[in-house]
Order: sequence, then C-alpha cells, then structure tokens
Amino acid sequence: MGVSPAKLGVRGQGSLGVVRIQLREFRNYESAEVELAEGLTVVTGANGAGKTNLLEALYFGCTARSPRTSNERELVRRGGEGVARVVLDLAADDGEHRIEVGFHPGEAKHLRVDGSPVESLSTVAVRPLVSVFLPERLELVKGAPAARRAHLDQVVAALWPSRAETRTAYSRALAQRNALVARARAGAAGPAGLDAWDAQLARHGIRLMQDRAEAVDGLCPLFTELAASLGLPGEAELRYRPRSAAGDADGLAAELAERRQADLERGFTAHGPHRDELQLLLAGAPLRAYGSQGQQRTALLALLFAERSLLAERRARPPLMLLDDVMSELDAERRELLAGLLRSGGQAVISTTEPEHVPGTALARGGLICVHGGAVSGAGRTVAA
Ligand SMILES: Nc1ncnc2c1ncn2[C@@H]1O[C@H](COP(=O)(O)OP(=O)(O)OP(=O)(O)O)[C@@H](O)[C@H]1O
Ligand SMILES: [Mg+2]
Repeated sequence: MGVSPAKLGVRGQGSLGVVRIQLREFRNYESAEVELAEGLTVVTGANGAGKTNLLEALYFGCTARSPRTSNERELVRRGGEGVARVVLDLAADDGEHRIEVGFHPGEAKHLRVDGSPVESLSTVAVRPLVSVFLPERLELVKGAPAARRAHLDQVVAALWPSRAETRTAYSRALAQRNALVARARAGAAGPAGLDAWDAQLARHGIRLMQDRAEAVDGLCPLFTELAASLGLPGEAELRYRPRSAAGDADGLAAELAERRQADLERGFTAHGPHRDELQLLLAGAPLRAYGSQGQQRTALLALLFAERSLLAERRARPPLMLLDDVMSELDAERRELLAGLLRSGGQAVISTTEPEHVPGTALARGGLICVHGGAVSGAGRTVAA
C-alpha cells in the first residue's frame, strides 16, 4: 500500500512558498520570527506552548481570517499593546513578496502586499492557498452537511477563482426569495414577485451545482486513492448528492415552481443547492454515521490531500498544508503513511507534542521548530541527516 508520488504527490508545483513568518502580539506570542522549510516543517512543544497559535498565525497571514474562531479579539495577545500583526515573506517565481496583516479589534484589518495597502487578500495573486487540519475540523466529516457544502465551495473558489462569485450570487438571490416567501406567508405581500427570484435562483443554482459536480469529479479518484494510501480499509468514495435533479436552469426553475406552495406554507425555500450533500463513504457506508474516530480523521486527511493534488494539477498551486496535532491519534502505521505523503512534495507545517510521532523528522531535510510559552527556538534550522 505504498504511496506513489508520481500519481498522488504534488506535480507541477509553482515555487510559491512561505519563507518566514513574523508575529507581533498574536495570541501568546509577543514577538517571534520563524523560518519555514521548503517542504515539511515540524513544530514541537509542550501542551499550551503555542503550536496551534503558530499554525493559526500562518493561516491568518494567508487569509486574514482565523481557522478556529470567529471572535477575532481572541487573536490579540492579552495584556499586550492591543494590536496583532502577522507578516509573511514569500518566495515566488518572480522573486520575494510580503503580505502584512495588522489587526486592531474594532477596526478594519490593515492589509498590505509588498508595502501597498489592499482591501482584501482574496484577489491577491501571490497569496498562498492554504489547507488546514485542526482537531475541531473533524466536524467536517462528522457534522451537518452545511460545513461540507461550504468547504466544497471553497475548493471550487480555489480551483476557479472567477467562479467564486456564483456562490455569492446564489446566496443573495436565496436571501431575497426567502424574504419574499416569509412576507407572502405573513400576508404582507403577494407571491407574484417570486417568478423573478426563481429565475435568478435557478440561473445561479444550476451553475453552482455544475461547479460542485466538476470539483467532486476531479477529487473523487484522488480521494479514493489517497484514502487507501493512508490505510483506510475498504474503498472510500466522495459523492456529490445534489438536492435537485435538474439538468438546466429551466429544470431547476420548474422544480422551484412545483414546490412554491409548500415553501409558502413553510416560510422558506426548502429546495435547491443550499440543501446539497457531499458524502464521504467507506465501503458504501457514510463515514459521518459509521466511521470510527480514526477513520474519520484519516478520511479528512485524504480529502485535504486530494484537494492539494487537484490544485497542484489544475492550478500549479498546491496549498500550504497546516496540520495541527494530527499524529497523536493515529496508529504507527498511519503515521508512517502520512509522513510519506507529507514528504512527497509541497509545503507543510505539522505540530506535535512528540517529534518522534512524525516519522523521519530527525533524518529529514525539513526544519524542526521548538516553541515554549510563545518563544521559538531552532527556527528554520535544518536538521542534518
Ligand atoms: N490572546 C491570547 N493572549 C495570550 N495568550 C493566549 C491568547 N490566546 C491563547 N493564549 C495562550 O496560548 C496558549 C495556548 O497555545 P496553543 O493553543 O498554541 O498551545 P499548543 O502548543 O497548541 O498546546 P496543545 O499541545 O495543548 O494543543 C495557552 O497558554 C493560552 O492561554
Ligand atoms: Mg494545540
């Protein structure tokens, strides 16, 4: 069950990578600077040392968002100056770039790319794509379908940035239709205006379904193969289950019209791609309901690696992978398999309390970073064979 790097590794990768991160007043870091290896960097330290915080800072530098909290005040060091700042130095084909994210709670974030202010990082060409595994992200496998839909839509946006707008347009049309349905239900409006919103919803909805289907088509064989490589017993499958059976916008509009009365009674729109499901199956059974913790964890890793392979293949842009505390719950065989995959290419940062849980760390060319109480040592040092 060996991994075949030629098939599953990161082919055609662009040379975009994070060279260095600087943190100021971020979580438990007053001031720190860390250099990352081109391939795998292992972050180690005791419980509470600041490993997850460092991974969170890397994500924050790439996206200006936290992967674990929506209350961004938490990011600013308690008892500090009140302004958090993350600076990423990047190496790309055309030279070095710098992304700076400054955050003062209550104010808009201060974003700069190569010294010039920008409104948002999402359209910045040199921004690294980033893929993150945090223990709480297991909810993606275990939890309700909404998280999987949102995740799939993020994959669509990473694969085809110009299509990200479809999801926004669909959500806007859905909110408008729902508002009108609710008003009609309350007797405050007639349902006549719904025709226009049904047409909009159908137009954007069918494109959203097509994008999701295309992304899953690309991911599915990679997911199956990677899940096997990571030691999942039985065939793992990714299946897109759209709520609608329509093949075009007219078909979706007709389905909406058929269900209009029921929607008016309920007070909201119960049909359409906002009710789609992305199933993760193992030997035909949904992992959400039947998977063990370890299987769910492995499946999530297989999904993230499948996305990395697809992004490397289609966009020549493998994401930076951030894997927080993933080894501790895996058995020795799966640790070996995962370490092999991590070393097959692309940039990754993995945190662990026990460096020996990352097989090959002492021998690898990747860096080993030790954190303790928000301080960093061994940063960027290459551990010699
Ligand atoms: N805004 C903040 N200001 C100061 N300290 C903070 C802030 N937010 C979190 N911390 C501290 O950061 C430390 C936790 O860091 P982190 O979650 O990165 O630990 P860890 O190394 O990942 O530990 P574990 O191995 O237990 O997961 C805790 O001591 C916590 O109290
Ligand atoms: Mg942690």
